[in-house]
Amino acid sequence: MTETLDIKITPIEKSRVSEYDINNVPFGKIFADHMFVAEYENGKWSKCYIQPYQDVPMSYALSALHYGQSIFEGMKAYKSDDGTVSLFRPLENCKRMNKSAIRMAMPEVPEEIFMGGLTELMKLDKAWVPTSDTGSLYIRPFLISTDEAIGVRPADNYKFIIFCCPAGKYYAEPVKVLIEHHYFRAVRGGVGYVKAAGNYGRSLYPTRLAQDKGFQQVIWTDSETQQYVEESGTMNLMFVIGDTLVTPALSDTILAGITRDTVFTIAKDWGYKVEERKISIKEIFEAHANGTLKEAFGTGTAATIAHIKAIGFEDNIYDLPEIEDRKFSPKIDEYLRNLRKGREEDKHHWMMKVS
Ligand SMILES: Cc1ncc(COP(=O)(O)O)c(C=O)c1O
Repeated sequence: MTETLDIKITPIEKSRVSEYDINNVPFGKIFADHMFVAEYENGKWSKCYIQPYQDVPMSYALSALHYGQSIFEGMKAYKSDDGTVSLFRPLENCKRMNKSAIRMAMPEVPEEIFMGGLTELMKLDKAWVPTSDTGSLYIRPFLISTDEAIGVRPADNYKFIIFCCPAGKYYAEPVKVLIEHHYFRAVRGGVGYVKAAGNYGRSLYPTRLAQDKGFQQVIWTDSETQQYVEESGTMNLMFVIGDTLVTPALSDTILAGITRDTVFTIAKDWGYKVEERKISIKEIFEAHANGTLKEAFGTGTAATIAHIKAIGFEDNIYDLPEIEDRKFSPKIDEYLRNLRKGREEDKHHWMMKVS
């Protein structure tokens, strides 16, 4: 793949990696040595290069800042016990990025550029992949419009960039989440099913209100009826009700999480009953009342599995079973950790070795 992609590489003079204990760094604040950049102009992708991670000069008229043509992905590389560095299902991120690009009237990033840039970057920055059991290198590919022009229209110029940061455990503790039914993350016909930057901007205020009340995250509900749960913060949502693993069915208001698909695939392998369907707030409370709500958790690249210990709704709090008493989510969390460390057979070929 990289044989055909011409990437000009300017390596860093001296790696910064020894300045940090990469197994113990705050999430998203320390950046690895290099970044990959591809430029789109005159209707085609042109220059591809890797350079030391750096700031760039920017026009205040940059179109992405004003009109939100800005999309991104979140993915991870893991170091197995034998030192091999692998990406987890990277082609899925590439496909989703292009789904986002289409919806936001942006040019698609050819797979060759996405994967070629990514693998070259990983080879250069493999020393930044933590070795701890819960550590990983978080990878942020993103695409922005770069026209220096005011005026609402799809831009002519774009940059696709990838940079990385070492990451540890995302949530140290199980989370308390508040069902939000006044503000909405996504609406029908909108952009909730893609990773558009604006989705995250609009979520911050309601999330802050929930945090002021002592919750870590919100559970988003559907904007039309406010009766059905959709996602939790930036994670897909799953419940074990009775003996069935249930998750909201995908729609244009729900992001098709790669962890969601991974967890469902393994649950099926293990012979669990699984259902993708609408889940009402009423059903959750009824299951809580009759003792069949066994587990609730979020799934996503950053946290993998975020156990939910309590759900708030208006002035009520519904406590969930202790994590030690949950059968499914701790087991799958451990299974995925072992898979990424090379301790489990990779029968779905999800780990793509890069070095
Ligand atoms: C809104 C939203 N939902 C769900 C997810 C989980 O997706 P994934 O498992 O692909 O990380 C994310 C993170 O990308 C997200 O931003």
